[in-house]
Amino acid sequence: MVQLNSIHLVTTCSQLYYSILPPEVHIKKRVGLLTGGGDAPGLNGIIESCVRTLSQMDWQVVGIRDGFDGIFNGLTTEFNPNDLIGLHARAGTLLGTSNRSAIKGREKEFLDNYNKLNLHGLIAAGGDGTFDGLRKVSSGLKIIGVPKTIDNDLEGTEITFGYDTACTVVAESADALRSTANAHARVFVVEAMGRSSGWIALGGGLASYADCILIPERPFDRESLKRHILMKKKQGLRGLIIVASEGAHAKNEGASVAFEVKDSPQKERFGGFAEKLARWIEAETNWEARHVVLGHLQRSRPPTTTDRFLTMSMGVEVSQMVRDEAWNQAVVYRNGRVSRAPIDDLMQPARLVKSEHRWVQLAQSLGIFI
Ligand code: F6P
Repeated sequence: MVQLNSIHLVTTCSQLYYSILPPEVHIKKRVGLLTGGGDAPGLNGIIESCVRTLSQMDWQVVGIRDGFDGIFNGLTTEFNPNDLIGLHARAGTLLGTSNRSAIKGREKEFLDNYNKLNLHGLIAAGGDGTFDGLRKVSSGLKIIGVPKTIDNDLEGTEITFGYDTACTVVAESADALRSTANAHARVFVVEAMGRSSGWIALGGGLASYADCILIPERPFDRESLKRHILMKKKQGLRGLIIVASEGAHAKNEGASVAFEVKDSPQKERFGGFAEKLARWIEAETNWEARHVVLGHLQRSRPPTTTDRFLTMSMGVEVSQMVRDEAWNQAVVYRNGRVSRAPIDDLMQPARLVKSEHRWVQLAQSLGIFI
């Protein structure tokens, strides 16, 4: 943008000169924004909130397409806030994402390409894979981290956006399935996402008052589960709902692996647990059983109001961090508010559900098998 300066008054000795200063070239500071890993409802809210706030601070947000792929391939977009109005209400990410493009082994290429983009810094919204990748190049970058995953299992923050939406999908599905379970006097096993952490099954299962919640952190005892189901049947319960994580498993058994994805940082894809469990229950209890796998529907819903507020607040905080040049920090949610923390706090092993967590105790108080 070119700004013409007004006539500038210069006085030297007793002479008066009017001079027109050379046009000053006003260059906006540029900050990159990328979304990496699996999409989560709320990513578009982060984009809209950051672009709107930063444009008021006179920063240009440069969107990087398809996660790290956009850096390797130079795929960028300069955002105009007026084009993004209403974006927050849509699931997915306008920028696209990828959880297959690893930096490992390509660090120099990554930094060379990143430097060509002429950015003052980078806002990276991602999960464990994204931050793990960025850790290898972080000494050459100025980054602000935005924790994102529907799994809610990132250390350093008490809640990640997308999680509330995923729980809502699970709870609404389990509530809906209760009606057909009651109509037919059946057991339904509802499979939620969550490979190593059971936050989605726990949150969605609690919100729907499921009869059993099975999560990877708490391998279940088959005999105890069978006893619980038979007890419920004896008590006259018509339909029984089990909400289980895809990575749930019985004691001394591994998780059910559906298939492997070549070239993926996470090769083993869990799946099949709900189906196998439903068959086992029917065989062991003589109670007809069905299963439903919710899969990617948990990520595909417009964000809930809770997730919208979270991403709106995080986007504003991130923008203020950019303005303050508070690099190598992350925006987090702690003690009921959005705040800042060292980015290293996000680069830790997954945050799992602990036995003493109040939600586990809540489930136990309600007589839910967990
Ligand atoms: O990490 C988020 C998540 O949705 C997990 O809960 C799930 O196991 C995985 O991603 C699915 O990955 P993909 O989208 O590659 O199938």
